[in-house]
Amino acid sequence: MIPPDFIDDLLSRTDIVDVINSRVTLKKTGQNYTGLCPFHTEKSPSFSVNQEKQFYYCFGCQASGSALKFLMEFERMDFIAAVEMLASKAGVEVPNSSPPGTSERLQKRKSIYEILEQASSLYQGFLRQHASRDTAVNYLKQRGLSGEIARDFQLGYAPPGWDNLMGALAKTNHERDLLIESGMLIDNNEEGKTYDRFRDRVMFPIRDVRGRVIAFGGRIIGDGKPKYLNSPETPVFHKGRELYGLYESRRRNRKLETLIVVEGYMDVVALAQQGINYAVATLGTATSSDHLDRLFRTVSKLVFSFDGDKAGRGAAWKALQESLPFMRDGRSARFLFLPEGEDPDTLVRKEGKDKFEWRVNQAPHLTDFLFDHLQEGLDMDAMEGKATLSQLSMPLIQKIPEGVFKQLVIGKLSELTGLSSERLIAVSNSQDQVAGYERSRSFPVKNQGFEAASTRTGSARGGVSREHADVNPAGGPAGVASDDEYAEMMATAEFMDEDPSFSFGALVSREMATLAEDAIGILLRQPDLAGDVDEKTYSQLENAPGCRLLVDLVHSILAREMASPVVLLASYQDQPEFPVLKMLAEREQLLDVSELPGQYSGILGKMAKIIETQSFQQVRKDLHSKPFADWSPEERKSYRESLKNKSGK
Ligand code: UTP
Ligand code: MN
Repeated sequence: MIPPDFIDDLLSRTDIVDVINSRVTLKKTGQNYTGLCPFHTEKSPSFSVNQEKQFYYCFGCQASGSALKFLMEFERMDFIAAVEMLASKAGVEVPNSSPPGTSERLQKRKSIYEILEQASSLYQGFLRQHASRDTAVNYLKQRGLSGEIARDFQLGYAPPGWDNLMGALAKTNHERDLLIESGMLIDNNEEGKTYDRFRDRVMFPIRDVRGRVIAFGGRIIGDGKPKYLNSPETPVFHKGRELYGLYESRRRNRKLETLIVVEGYMDVVALAQQGINYAVATLGTATSSDHLDRLFRTVSKLVFSFDGDKAGRGAAWKALQESLPFMRDGRSARFLFLPEGEDPDTLVRKEGKDKFEWRVNQAPHLTDFLFDHLQEGLDMDAMEGKATLSQLSMPLIQKIPEGVFKQLVIGKLSELTGLSSERLIAVSNSQDQVAGYERSRSFPVKNQGFEAASTRTGSARGGVSREHADVNPAGGPAGVASDDEYAEMMATAEFMDEDPSFSFGALVSREMATLAEDAIGILLRQPDLAGDVDEKTYSQLENAPGCRLLVDLVHSILAREMASPVVLLASYQDQPEFPVLKMLAEREQLLDVSELPGQYSGILGKMAKIIETQSFQQVRKDLHSKPFADWSPEERKSYRESLKNKSGK
């Protein structure tokens, strides 16, 4: 555990009794305060708070900790939110080394959050007491929702009319502008008219992980189009990233282990109504890697729910592909297919909690879905079927991070095909991963080509291969290599064959890892530098050796706008990476602060360059795995370019 100075200082300004007493009724008994423990069910008080030690302890369930820990556990807040809450209560600023301009942007966002919160309260108020509230209330009742669940999800009502919201909240021009910027008002420049975006709809506020309202979905009452109207993209809302119900799920479950990923608002709320309060919705968009990143930071088990129809299976397949790079050891993903014509909302209402959870527990695991899907239409009793299965699945399996899980999946493929794991890996390394997936040529043919090419020596050129080159329609005259070129290619091919490592050699891997550590060390001193490098570079780094932690760190900085080193480091407190990060943060730094930005971009630039070189080498290696005669003109061209780029080791 780190007690960084700031946290120490913050805790010394905080009285734990204050913090707890406003949430749990405490009575002074002797030296301590006692009350009913909020962390387990009990009839007589065994929860005690010691003011002197600033510590709570439950004799019943052994829950214990500081004011910070209490907030995190009781409010299900993340570390940063809890620090911020204590800081604002204590009237201190969370240390911040953000560049100029940042605070203005943050200020703007803060105002947007505030006005959205007001909008949400207004809509909730309308659901309770607007003259035409009955239509909305009856609609929710008819969909099986109780008042309690409506309150938990802060559902609201936007009555008919063009200016209910505007009239109530846009008292000044500034407020009006904020409402436009937050997507609540539509500003029609041509006609010079401004009006409420949401009218005559049931309102679902979308909250971020800290519980702040960031957008709304509004459902039409009854039939009509569009069925759901959503807030547009705003400075605080990016539709493809958010998950409806994530905040609520975390809040309702002290120990959240599994999340069910569904499509719609109503699915989340209906599941919660039936007691399944661990569902989130992707707001009608496909599951993105941003979603997965966020989901797997929260839980280690995901269950994706899909319609049983063809479109549903297609969407599931896409989700599987997105998930592969996230399947680190200890994580699991399942794919639940619902009966045709049902969604989680209709099904859980029909069948109830137990049956639905039974379905969830029966849902096939990623591996089963992967192989079942790929085996469709293949004759697995024939050699060709087995070959095609290997060729289709290996490129996907290679996306899984190294680890036991990946080994097990390869083991399973080995069972299905009768090929050894080593063989499967060797063959997959020799095939162009993307093209290998697109083409469905079976690999034995390709493999023969590979062996033929690599046993051929420079002097044996001509022969079969040249003949092929002449008749190959892809290789026009311009594509035919000179004898010298060909000799060189074959020489390289032999050299390459001796090197079994895939793409990144051990030396290069170590170099990458060292650079990544240096970059992390800089970010831990000045997190806002993460924004100096473009997303493309980071995404290139994602699969490079030794870069996972760096990429992870960058994502947490960018996702949460964390500009304070202390808070950044502390946010990893409970993670396995913490000791490494702490070590890197404490490493002696020779550079002056003013040199950090240049150094950071420099390191990242270097890493990008290495990756580029490696990928050129990969191009060469991939090409050597098939007869020269089969090279397309584009491939020949990229090969020649790769030769110019020999610098990499
Ligand atoms: P569905 O059409 O499956 O609706 O859209 P649903 O969730 O079953 O809704 P109910 O049960 O009829 O009320 C799934 C999700 O796609 C997005 C919404 O997020 C919705 O929850 N969607 C759908 C829109 O954004 N706009 C639309 O017009 C329709
Ligand atoms: Mn529905």
